[in-house]
Amino acid sequence: MKIKPLSNALGAEVTGIDLRQPQDPDTIKALQSAFVENLVLVVRDQEDLSPEDQMRFCEFFGPLGARARPADDRPEKADAPAEVMFVSNRKEDGRFIGSLPEGEMQFHMDQCYTERPARATCLYGIAIPEKGGDTVFGNLCAAYEALPKDLKAIVDSSRARHVFSYGSTSTDQVDDAGKTTEYVQPMAVLQPETGRPSLYVSRLMTRQITGLEDAAAREVLDLLFDHQERPEFLYTHKWRRGDLVIWDNLCTVHARTDFDPAQDRHLRRFTVAGAPLKAA
Ligand code: OGA
Ligand code: MN
Repeated sequence: MKIKPLSNALGAEVTGIDLRQPQDPDTIKALQSAFVENLVLVVRDQEDLSPEDQMRFCEFFGPLGARARPADDRPEKADAPAEVMFVSNRKEDGRFIGSLPEGEMQFHMDQCYTERPARATCLYGIAIPEKGGDTVFGNLCAAYEALPKDLKAIVDSSRARHVFSYGSTSTDQVDDAGKTTEYVQPMAVLQPETGRPSLYVSRLMTRQITGLEDAAAREVLDLLFDHQERPEFLYTHKWRRGDLVIWDNLCTVHARTDFDPAQDRHLRRFTVAGAPLKAA
């Protein structure tokens, strides 16, 4: 197995491993430390990975997370594991078979609007469009460290409200969608393994800073979003079929670029369960 960095910001590429096979303890340890260090792992060339293989990989990083299922969701196929979700634009009987089927998606952390956001999210690339549909990752620990003093003081002492409605890919849709879920989180969140603070806000889901007037909060949040989305904190993942990607969902933020909806894009998704977040 070889592990090499993908950018100056975050991310490492893992090659020379076949995850259909059980792994020895040293390999698992090496994957765990590469994950803590690089925040995103891209395991290449995983042909024909079954849901069970992907679940076993996720469990190297913690217990599997339950799938959040909206009330009107279409049940997955009877033989599919309960925790699976598809990020997919495939349709059956005129309906999308999965979630987040189309379009650009703004930066966000998964499930930040709940008490226990997923510790990690794992996507497996089954069908990839020729162009676009990239996933862009941002390093929130690096973004925190580079904050100017005045913003850092606010972040260190404040909490923010995260709001989401299922399936939204931009803030204006969250507003329109009506039925929202929300949760208040520290703005500086502790990375459990390293003790580093993470700048835990995002353009898609963070709405309000507790204790600030709306306009003042808006101004601070816009500065924080622009800061964390600076190119030096980002790695853009261009998918290949057979890529297995896992990201630290506390210390990274992610977004998706637009793609041609006529092209097949089908990814299989599991999460690693998380705990309530601690302030740094
Ligand atoms: C997700 C997600 C982005 C993508 O699965 O949580 O944001 O590239 N996916 O499809
Ligand atoms: Mn996401």
